[in-house]
Amino acid sequence: MDKTHLVDEITGHRRMRRNRKADWTRRLVQENRLTVDDLIWPIFIVPGTGIVDPIAAMPGVNRMSVDKAVEAVKEAADLGIPAIATFPDIEMELRDETGSNSLVANNLINQATAAFKKAVPNIGIITDVALDPFTSHGHDGILRGGVIVNDETVDQIVRAAVMQADAGADIIAPSEMMDGRIGAIRRGLDAAGHQDVGIMSYATKFSSGFYGPYREAINTSGLLKGDKNSYYISPANGTEAVRDAALDVEEGADMLMVKPGIAYLDICWRIKEAFGLPVFAYQVSGEYTQIKAAAMNGWIDGDRIMMETLLCFKRAGCDGILSYFAVDVAKKLAKIG
Ligand code: PBG
Repeated sequence: MDKTHLVDEITGHRRMRRNRKADWTRRLVQENRLTVDDLIWPIFIVPGTGIVDPIAAMPGVNRMSVDKAVEAVKEAADLGIPAIATFPDIEMELRDETGSNSLVANNLINQATAAFKKAVPNIGIITDVALDPFTSHGHDGILRGGVIVNDETVDQIVRAAVMQADAGADIIAPSEMMDGRIGAIRRGLDAAGHQDVGIMSYATKFSSGFYGPYREAINTSGLLKGDKNSYYISPANGTEAVRDAALDVEEGADMLMVKPGIAYLDICWRIKEAFGLPVFAYQVSGEYTQIKAAAMNGWIDGDRIMMETLLCFKRAGCDGILSYFAVDVAKKLAKIG
């Protein structure tokens, strides 16, 4: 060793850079990989036909009528994306105090599911049962006397979940964080003969500022009175999140979700380690928008950060990611466009 340098002999025996020296070594030692099989694509559905309506706060993301969404979902399936997650933007006149439209068998979300099942049978359909797209106050549950009532909300979302399964949903994903919902949905699905319909629990959903653009997308931001702190988890609490996920595991969840994603990678890791169930991160609207907005200003390399963030979810123990970038990522991985 050249004694004129300050690096000591021990370092000389342990040079980390030997494994990083060429593309081939780097490929050989790569620990985690992002593939198209890791992607779930969330989409927004609006009533009508022929509609592709850009969402201002989410550049590149559109609200689509069912017919247009069918075309988009076909493209996603052709790219190899395993599943979609659907969110409806319900007409204002159909929203009310209890979110009663969630219990209409052929409501927008169920129409979309039936259409996708028919036209694109090989893609998985994940539906949310939270009431926020259906309520006049933008909350995820039934509001009585200023309180989101837990047990009555659970009864309603179980009925909504069964209707979603009847329409063809493959996985029910409850995002409203009511206590006892996973067990109740499991029993409801089983009683209705839907033993094969799975449950992806939004097990740890944090009360987050990152949901802003989503609320614009489904037009709940102007409606929401107060905040969701009485049912979502505080961003300050990790141990409480693990405990909440443990209850969902006991109650029969098949898969767990962490939401939002990138600021909560510690939770992804803890939950994967604790339970070993498939864990998914939701890279939410605000995360997407941050990357897009900075890239549109030329301040960051948007494509690079899109790929980097998704790979980091894998490193943090996630089995997959819900991402508005899913189609872009699938094309990039397939080297299309
Ligand atoms: C509510 C719901 C939210 C999202 C999906 N369903 C959060 C909220 O509005 O409070 C957020 C998704 C996103 O930001 O991309 N049940």
